[in-house]
Amino acid sequence: MTDTERFDRAAPTWDHEDRRVALAQAVAEAISARVPLSRGLSTLDFGCGTGLVTLALAPKVGAITGADTSPGMLKTLAEKAQALGIPVRLRPLDPAGTGDLGGPYQLIVSSMTLHHIPDVPALFHRFAGQLQPGGHIALADLDQEDGSFHEDLTGVHHHGFSRDQIQAWLEAAGFLQIHLETAQVSRKNGKDYPVFLATARKA
Ligand SMILES: C[S@@+](CC[C@H](N)C(=O)[O-])C[C@H]1O[C@@H](n2cnc3c(N)ncnc32)[C@H](O)[C@@H]1O
Repeated sequence: MTDTERFDRAAPTWDHEDRRVALAQAVAEAISARVPLSRGLSTLDFGCGTGLVTLALAPKVGAITGADTSPGMLKTLAEKAQALGIPVRLRPLDPAGTGDLGGPYQLIVSSMTLHHIPDVPALFHRFAGQLQPGGHIALADLDQEDGSFHEDLTGVHHHGFSRDQIQAWLEAAGFLQIHLETAQVSRKNGKDYPVFLATARKA
């Protein structure tokens, strides 16, 4: 089964796991505390999944777009957004996740998706190209872990990241005002997995 098929299958029950909902909530709160959000900010959630972060941020930002490679995830997000009466633009991506992200945006967020991306430095350059000058980025993912976080390693390209590495890749992509903090410590199978939030601005 491909990574996309796995996420398609998981989509209808993705939100049933309390740990995921709590993590997304914590990430959305950390973003709200660190980035000056306003109703005018055009926003992209890259790897939005079922929209746990997208829908939490939607009332605090302007037009919000959810981009994802999984049609199943986007379908679940569309159903949730419609039920809640929250407008969300959907951007289906090809299986490689390449293609136009629909920018420029003033804010790009992403939660728990970077570890599924083979070439993260290239993605950071792509994000920079999709942001307006002065635009914000807010990216959450696992700190470096021992490979035990995922039971199925299909499509997992990184066992988390060192914060120094994330900082260096953001600098190389031209981002300024880089800040890394702990958004939450996610507990899974009796083990703690810290999740960082990296924020920065485009020059
Ligand atoms: C672990 S889930 C996180 C979903 C959501 N952000 C959340 O916090 O619940 C990772 C998401 O990234 C998507 N994804 C995987 N590879 C991708 C790629 N190359 N480009 C964009 N999205 C991708 C998956 O379909 C999935 O929805």
